[in-house]
Amino acid sequence: MRFAVFASGQGSNLQAIIEAVQKGVIKSELALVFSDNHKAFALKRAQAVGIKTLCLERKDYVSPQSYDRDLLIYLKEAQIDFIVLAGFMRLLTPFFIKEYYQRILNIHPALLPAFKGMQGIKDTFTYGVKVAGVTVHFVDDKIDHGPIILQQAFKVSHKETLESLEARIHKIEHKFYPKAIALFVEGRLKIRGRKVTILERSASPSVAKDAVDQKEFDSPEPS
Ligand code: GAR
Repeated sequence: MRFAVFASGQGSNLQAIIEAVQKGVIKSELALVFSDNHKAFALKRAQAVGIKTLCLERKDYVSPQSYDRDLLIYLKEAQIDFIVLAGFMRLLTPFFIKEYYQRILNIHPALLPAFKGMQGIKDTFTYGVKVAGVTVHFVDDKIDHGPIILQQAFKVSHKETLESLEARIHKIEHKFYPKAIALFVEGRLKIRGRKVTILERSASPSVAKDAVDQKEFDSPEPS
């Protein structure tokens, strides 16, 4: 299987994914990194390790549909089987999503369905919640809505700052996203309606349990 990562910014999740592929945690070829922003540092991270990159800017297209049509041509050329959104800040059209139905994954820095949108971390912090978290889900045609693959929650300390919360969320994301992608690649995610079941690997049933073990991802509260 070959996959593409879509990223618009820093690409710290992309970096974690690259390392997971290099270590063999994700047994799939990361064949393309795509961005809608030519300034995205994610593109540099990919180029540094010799991964092919592609950037299409929205301003060069008359409509979201024509943009996505072109993008699909590139993806087909590159023989991309599935797509991982990692801080990709542009909405995909329903037409595009249909082409990769149940083959697009996304990470969101909040416990969906709370705090959807572009500022999940800031919104979580401002709201004053006592529990925050991270969600990995399949993408459907509504924003931050598709079936949930994994979620990790943690307690928010009264000493938390926006910066400390952001750091904790990113730390979880970098462990969590490669794990979810690996489950997908291994064919261990069964979708029925909104419910995603994680199938146990027959050779080692304990692995499936580990994949959803919350303790593994617990990050300490700031002191
Ligand atoms: C991540 O925190 C990711 O969850 C978030 O963007 C950040 C990208 O960071 N995605 C969304 O908010 C999607 N709605 P990165 O570029 O360093 O990986």
